[in-house]
Amino acid sequence: MEPERNVIRSLQSGEASSCELILRSLPKWFGIEESIVEYVRSVEAMETYVVELSGSVMGFITVNERSASAAEIHVLALRAEWHGRGIGRALVEHIENALLARDIEYLQVKTLAPSRPSPEYERTRGFYWHLGFRPLEENHLWGPESPCLIMVKHLTCPA
Ligand SMILES: CC(C)(COP(=O)(O)OP(=O)(O)OC[C@H]1O[C@@H](n2cnc3c(N)ncnc32)[C@H](O)[C@@H]1OP(=O)(O)O)[C@@H](O)C(=O)NCCC(=O)NCCS
Repeated sequence: MEPERNVIRSLQSGEASSCELILRSLPKWFGIEESIVEYVRSVEAMETYVVELSGSVMGFITVNERSASAAEIHVLALRAEWHGRGIGRALVEHIENALLARDIEYLQVKTLAPSRPSPEYERTRGFYWHLGFRPLEENHLWGPESPCLIMVKHLTCPA
């Protein structure tokens, strides 16, 4: 049998709907309708890479340059059946390399803070920590119901 081929490439026109389906398949992470709509818009407006497995888009990462030296992971999602197989790491490393080539030194990500307990987001924070991101601050950017944790990584530090 052929081994599974995993290709990371830029999002192509018309593929935002594949990203939307991925977000909608993960309601424990992406359960707020307005956020899904905003993420789908941003997938088309910002730099986005998808991971294609056996010819289908199974995950994506969207990155936003915030300054000449810093960028942000705006959204990252992978279909649940592919979690835990190194694909999330591959997507993050892909954008880290692209950003480093443009002399961008810092990468941040905003995620649900631990002050609102969630086993799903505990996993997400563990993933980012493992890849070298560290908590910078907790704030109420998304309101008190969804406390926000900003994590940051200096890109020259290997994961
Ligand atoms: C977060 C997500 C993208 C991670 O992708 P993934 O493919 O499941 O993760 P990987 O298999 O690439 O894991 C990479 C590394 O992190 C480690 N890791 C993953 N979760 C971890 C955790 N909770 N605690 C500690 N380490 C963890 C893995 O063991 C692996 O280590 P290694 O590369 O040294 O062997 C994916 O699980 C996902 O889509 N989750 C739902 C949506 C989400 O959380 N998006 C982010 C919103 S801010």
